[in-house]
Amino acid sequence: MTKDAPEKISLSDLRIEKLSKRHNKIIDNFQSSNKELKDFLVEDALDNQEMAISTTYLWFFNPKNELAAYITILADAIRIHGTRLGKSFVDQGVNYKTLPAMKIGRLCVDDNYVKKGIGKQTTYFAMKKMIRMNEVIGCRFLVVDAKPDSVKFYKKMDFEVLKQREKGTLPMYYDMIKLIKYFKENKTKLSKAKEESIL
Ligand SMILES: CC(C)(COP(=O)(O)OP(=O)(O)OC[C@H]1O[C@@H](n2cnc3c(N)ncnc32)[C@H](O)[C@@H]1OP(=O)(O)O)[C@@H](O)C(=O)NCCC(=O)NCCS
Repeated sequence: MTKDAPEKISLSDLRIEKLSKRHNKIIDNFQSSNKELKDFLVEDALDNQEMAISTTYLWFFNPKNELAAYITILADAIRIHGTRLGKSFVDQGVNYKTLPAMKIGRLCVDDNYVKKGIGKQTTYFAMKKMIRMNEVIGCRFLVVDAKPDSVKFYKKMDFEVLKQREKGTLPMYYDMIKLIKYFKENKTKLSKAKEESIL
């Protein structure tokens, strides 16, 4: 590691808790320069969860017992009609206009914890949830409306752009099919992969 490279946080130093009322005080201390993402956590995340609109998971850095990040996930559909992705399905004889997806509704790493590998781990966490979900229902894509500042991060995570937009958020997707097939065929490896933090 070079002198200036940020130190990565190990998955074993993180713990995940589903958001609940007992976190009210803790979430007040969460720091993000992105006001909308902080406000969502404090004002809306729990209400949305209680209404079954989305589910939020808090990520704590154990050595300091600090809230380091949160991720909010929900069910969604990806509209592929008229896109290059849609055409690739038509070529395979699949003519649906939309396909099932899970959405990263919100993802935010506390300002003090950015670039330490936590965003990557939270994204892997969403992927792992999707693999489990596929044991019960079909769900093909992990999607996000990426804020301009986070597009490079999602590209690094191998998300692709669904369609270009002039302004605002950018619709991006990750096709889960290879991972879903891999873990279907190698079920026992899932727990090992978790230990190794691949997922
Ligand atoms: C975007 C965000 C979630 C990334 O989380 P993070 O914990 O800082 O990212 P990680 O450390 O896990 O980075 C994973 C990889 O992406 C790269 N990366 C992260 N942010 C990047 C950026 N802004 N530009 C370029 N690369 C970036 C990292 O260098 C790392 O690469 P590596 O694996 O080769 O080392 C975080 O910066 C954040 O919460 N930002 C503010 C809110 C936001 O924009 N949320 C997204 C809403 S859609």
